Amino acid sequence: MFKSQLTSVFFMLLFALSPIYGDFELLELVSTWPATFCYAYGCSRRRPIPNNFTIHGLWPDNKSIILNNCNVANKERYIKIEDPKKLTELDKRWPQLRYDKLYGIDKQYLWEKEFLKHGTCSINRYKQAAYFDLAMNIKDRFDLLGTLRNHGINPGSTYDLDDIERAIKTVSIKVPSLKCIEKPPGNVELNEIGICLDPEAKYTVPCPRTGSCHELGPRIKFR
Ligand SMILES: *[C@@H]1O[C@H](CO)[C@@H](O)[C@H](O)[C@H]1NC(C)=O
Ligand SMILES: *[C@@H]1O[C@H](CO)[C@@H](O)[C@H](O)[C@H]1NC(C)=O
Repeated sequence: MFKSQLTSVFFMLLFALSPIYGDFELLELVSTWPATFCYAYGCSRRRPIPNNFTIHGLWPDNKSIILNNCNVANKERYIKIEDPKKLTELDKRWPQLRYDKLYGIDKQYLWEKEFLKHGTCSINRYKQAAYFDLAMNIKDRFDLLGTLRNHGINPGSTYDLDDIERAIKTVSIKVPSLKCIEKPPGNVELNEIGICLDPEAKYTVPCPRTGSCHELGPRIKFR
């Protein structure tokens, strides 16, 4: 064969072997502020409510459309996590706040829901174990509470949305997604922070949807 033919065979092989690109365009790690979440929705896990941001989920997404429930052929099943070390690691970063700790670890309702609703949207790239490992890995890269504190934003007070966003941008680099709840009317609280990354989670990208705080603000309580 000529060298050019060899070269094109090589590139065809490379293409065939490379991971599947193009199923989703970005990853959003959504972190919950437990005090607000538990105030708004109620938690069984109350002793104590974690005093740090915890994972809500890792959401593969597209810029122009929200991806959910990609398990169309219904062939993905959630495999219950049994490894005690993994369970401890997950429970530390991704506690299932609605449930008592042991009940949550036994039933795994939140983890299963997040995997089936969101994890299936990145399944060609991240199988179940990789999906959970990646979420924990990203969580460990962002100390959101420390970042807010470093910018004078502490639990127990109310701040301008712009100041909260400016603080988060020092670590997200790009526009984050800030999600608020309003309860009762007039009381707007920071509930979640979304940080968006490229599909390989190497660098941050702008979040395509900037979150409900922008409609509910401009004054936001950090409970
Ligand atoms: C999401 O984006 C990827 C890459 O652009 C594309 O291949 C895929 O079809 C999109 N999914 C939907 C549901 O639009
Ligand atoms: C909060 O979690 C982050 C990881 O996301 C960690 O770096 C930080 O030390 C934690 N802060 C406290 C006060 O536990």
